[in-house]
Amino acid sequence: MTSAQAFWNRTHTCGELRDEHNDADVVLNGWVDRARDLGGLVFVDVRDRYGITQVLFDPAVVDDETFQLAGTLRGEFVIAVRGFVRVRDGAQRNANTATGDVEIVARGVQLLTRSAALPISLKGDNETSEELRLKHRYLDLRRPELQSKMLLRHEVTLATRNYFHEHKFIDVETPILTKSTPEGARDYLVPSRVHPGDFFALPQSPQLFKQILMISGYDRYMQIARCFRDEDLRADRQPEFTQVDIEMAFITKDILFPILEGWVARVWKDFAGVEIPLPMKRLSYATVMEEYGVDRPDLRFGLKLATVSDLLEGTDAGPLASALALEDGTIKALYLPGEPGQLSRKQLDGLTETAKQFGLGGLLWGKVSNDGVSGAVKKFLTEEQRNAILERLGERNGFDASSTGILLVSAGRTGQVNDAMSRIRVQLGNDLGLISPSAYEFAWVVDFPAFGWNEDEERWDPLHHPFTSPITEHMGMVQSDPGNVLTDAYDMVCNGYELGGGSIRIHDPDVQRAVFSAIGLTEAEARAKFGFLLDALSYGAPPHGGIAFGLDRVVMLLARTEAIREVIAFPKTQKASCLMTEAPNAVDDAQMGELHLVSTAPAKDA
Ligand code: AMO
Repeated sequence: MTSAQAFWNRTHTCGELRDEHNDADVVLNGWVDRARDLGGLVFVDVRDRYGITQVLFDPAVVDDETFQLAGTLRGEFVIAVRGFVRVRDGAQRNANTATGDVEIVARGVQLLTRSAALPISLKGDNETSEELRLKHRYLDLRRPELQSKMLLRHEVTLATRNYFHEHKFIDVETPILTKSTPEGARDYLVPSRVHPGDFFALPQSPQLFKQILMISGYDRYMQIARCFRDEDLRADRQPEFTQVDIEMAFITKDILFPILEGWVARVWKDFAGVEIPLPMKRLSYATVMEEYGVDRPDLRFGLKLATVSDLLEGTDAGPLASALALEDGTIKALYLPGEPGQLSRKQLDGLTETAKQFGLGGLLWGKVSNDGVSGAVKKFLTEEQRNAILERLGERNGFDASSTGILLVSAGRTGQVNDAMSRIRVQLGNDLGLISPSAYEFAWVVDFPAFGWNEDEERWDPLHHPFTSPITEHMGMVQSDPGNVLTDAYDMVCNGYELGGGSIRIHDPDVQRAVFSAIGLTEAEARAKFGFLLDALSYGAPPHGGIAFGLDRVVMLLARTEAIREVIAFPKTQKASCLMTEAPNAVDDAQMGELHLVSTAPAKDA
């Protein structure tokens, strides 16, 4: 085909044809998925985002030139093919494809564009490195697995907009070029050409704008908002990501939660086919930290932890005594009732390795069998101590304290013990097959502490963000006893992920000033950073609150994948770069000059 020649427009997609189209004249447009020459017949599978259809070139039907051309078709060539539909004989039907009952008998073909040999395989195997896939994302995105995730994301976004629209929320766009909002990460900055030396920050979230909208009377707001955070990346974190961002005026948690739960239930029903029992349970931060060691617990299985420091007071066992001597030391235990041999030595060593990764000296473990007790548990615990520990764990987990099993004990700084034990718990859940991959367990985590002590900077940092309201009873303690103030903050968690986080906000400018002061901001600093908020709060702010859900994480869970990159069309790598466009990149001196910037970065190798 020459470029001046019009191409045949498709009459159907590659996923559409069925028995009832028998004999119909059709045109398909798409990519060659596979071409094979079988004893004088050429079979070509044509693919588009709707599916794949088999096309047959038979020299008895097409002229020589067409047959020759068909023989030259290769993977990913783009073609238009004209022909008629033929229902396949019983044995020839292919139950693996939606169009497998039919094929097209070609009458003609146009080669629209050729493709170079592919640098990555599109065939679902994972042989190609992820790096190469990201570099050639335009090809990777052709894979049906990724296309179905993009489609799911689109559908979830649409359903989300519709749901909140039905509940009278309005979508208001907020600026991308803005001022820093503290959400705990570093900002991405944009230098201003017009204001030498000044910078915009890309929003870590639309937090302050949505609060301002409440003050301006838009009492139900929802935005699918892009957010930018320069932070350490993980499998569920990207430097730019999308929030379902929500704010409401005149609410309490009890008004807000049912609306949000209704959305989650709808989306899970429509896209995962799962009924979520409502209302969702609410667990306090203190409870989840005690029982799971983490504020986003995986509730699909038990194996609850217990703090046992009080049961071991006065111990002279070295590792335990030294943990108890620490100001923030603790000892926590976990018990696997059942067969004492259920974990191999290798698995136990793996768990010890995990404990070490989190900075602990190791993990004390021992098998409790009918013949006695083994390992470090035997060495470091008296019978009385061990029985007391098993009693506590048994009550919490519903097993008999005399059960045989494996006892794991971890001692050290509270943060490290919690990090290690929460990870070990999940590792055990996976290794022992306690986690049903198709289950979803949701909960609210509530009653967060307002502040955490920042040892490096020697000051209190907000645990959520500094616009979060203390609970009413603790309003007066913000300055006198910040460490014990609880806030009206909440997270929605599912299967070990934090899906969303939010809070009831401060709507009294005096309380807001008190919180700024508690986190070490002087009056002048507070004004410089948040003067506009303090001003806005002084002109009649309604009580308000809200939440933001990570849309990427919602889709990730619905798509049953553990990699956020699988549900983002153009994701960044672990090192926050885009391998396809090669961003970020250096800019020329003229552009730097215009922006009043001079780089101090070491010169890069050419
Ligand atoms: P928060 O910081 O908890 O709250 O963020 C809300 C939700 O956004 C998702 N999320 C992320 N997803 C992918 N990559 C990231 N780097 C990332 N960071 C956060 C999580 C998280 O639960 N302004 C407040 C919300 C509020 O108070 O209303 C906020 O942004 O799913």
